[in-house]
Amino acid sequence: MKITTEKLDNIDLEIVLINDNDLKSKNLVDKVLLDKLSFKAEQDELCFLAESSKLYVGYNDDIASSIASSIRFLDGKEFVKNIKLTTNLSDEESIYKITNGAILGVYKFDKYKSKRTNKHIKNLYISSPSQKNFSQTIKKATTIANSTNFTRDIVNMAPDDCYPKVLAKIAKDLAKENNLECNILKQKDIEKENMNALLAVARASRHDSRVIHISHKPKDVKHRVLVIGKGLTYDSGGLSLKPSDFMATMKSDKSGACTVLGILKSVSELNLNVEVHGFIGAVENMIGGDSYKPDDVLKAKNGKTIEVKNTDAEGRLVLADVLDFAQQEISEFDYIIDIATLTGACVVGVGNYTTGIMGHNDELKNKMKECAKNSGEFATPLDFNRFLSKTLKNETADICNISNTRYGGALTAGLFLSEFIKDANKDKWLHLDIAGPAFVEHIWGVNPHGASGAGVRMVVEFIENINKK
Ligand code: BES
Ligand code: ZN
Ligand code: ZN
Repeated sequence: MKITTEKLDNIDLEIVLINDNDLKSKNLVDKVLLDKLSFKAEQDELCFLAESSKLYVGYNDDIASSIASSIRFLDGKEFVKNIKLTTNLSDEESIYKITNGAILGVYKFDKYKSKRTNKHIKNLYISSPSQKNFSQTIKKATTIANSTNFTRDIVNMAPDDCYPKVLAKIAKDLAKENNLECNILKQKDIEKENMNALLAVARASRHDSRVIHISHKPKDVKHRVLVIGKGLTYDSGGLSLKPSDFMATMKSDKSGACTVLGILKSVSELNLNVEVHGFIGAVENMIGGDSYKPDDVLKAKNGKTIEVKNTDAEGRLVLADVLDFAQQEISEFDYIIDIATLTGACVVGVGNYTTGIMGHNDELKNKMKECAKNSGEFATPLDFNRFLSKTLKNETADICNISNTRYGGALTAGLFLSEFIKDANKDKWLHLDIAGPAFVEHIWGVNPHGASGAGVRMVVEFIENINKK
């Protein structure tokens, strides 16, 4: 779909974006009819006037979601190719949200459908009272939304089509396309790096693991950021096997990794003047005679020993080694941010829509919360405390991979990761638990069923703002 503020020659249908105030206006052409149909212009409310080929859509505080709802309603209808969107909003921020909402809202994953439709909307012409053409705003919103859709496409791939080697190939192809550097560690290389925690998780899989390092390195940068993604191409739980209801959707346990790729795609296409290094641990957690076991003791790359008590708490084991590897490869940086579908507890705590932000630096956590809000995502800080840290203590090894309390699981997982952040970097670190929003089972906002691309928009916003400090 192409989005423009230039008039189109043929228009098949008009979307009219209004709020309850606009609805009261005497100048509103269809006022009488809309009143009769009891249209209230509530958030995401639609009213289709077939005779005049108009679709009214209400908005309150989420313009992107309203646009997504209206586009979803129209996409695939044969006659709708060119749309005019009428709005009396005329500021950059609104145009940005409209563009974002249209591209994220029209996304559909149909790779596995035997019959695919090509009856898609071709052009969206935004008609606003402003004289400006907003081309830069539209371009930026389009780039970020397309990167989010790129992330969604990978997450949505079936686990037998997207295993660690495939994820590495996708990273390599992205690097080639966008002029990024890319280094892939294969099984032997990972062994040489002593990433034994990661390797234990991977052992029962028929697929070898990969550790991916992909980077955007513009010249003369002032800032450097590391983004680390959990890339469990499947999480069966291992010997601590997940019940079947919980296992389905676990192809999405690679979401953090795919978000990292989406971020790299975005920052390179936006030419952001920040050095960004993505690191991904791509692993499959399966069962078999050679599975790692509850009671096993692992020696992580950084030398710490870990007693395994639950093989389903595997993401933290993979990240432990990748976090240490990232800090070894790049020793000087401003921020290190990991992104992971890490715990069901985070979903219990903050719900399906919100990312949990953890770390030791309150200012940084609040900054990320702000970036989430400004970019159209939900995220909230969760605070560590010294009592929770003690719950990872272990009699046998240095630490345990699960805590000794059943509560606060998102935070204790975060605290486990903290054990693998070097002291000098503790204040530069953020952990984003995207277990809730990464995969959508019931459509909400700009998100269709399936992967949402959670984290791409907020982290790109964060990186973009680094130079503005
Ligand atoms: N990948 C899961 C977490 C998850 C749950 C992601 C639901 C998305 C939706 C993770 O590896 C896991 O299984 N965590 C366990 C940890 C527990 C054993 C301490 C969990 O949350 O139950
Ligand atoms: Zn798990
Ligand atoms: Zn997992």
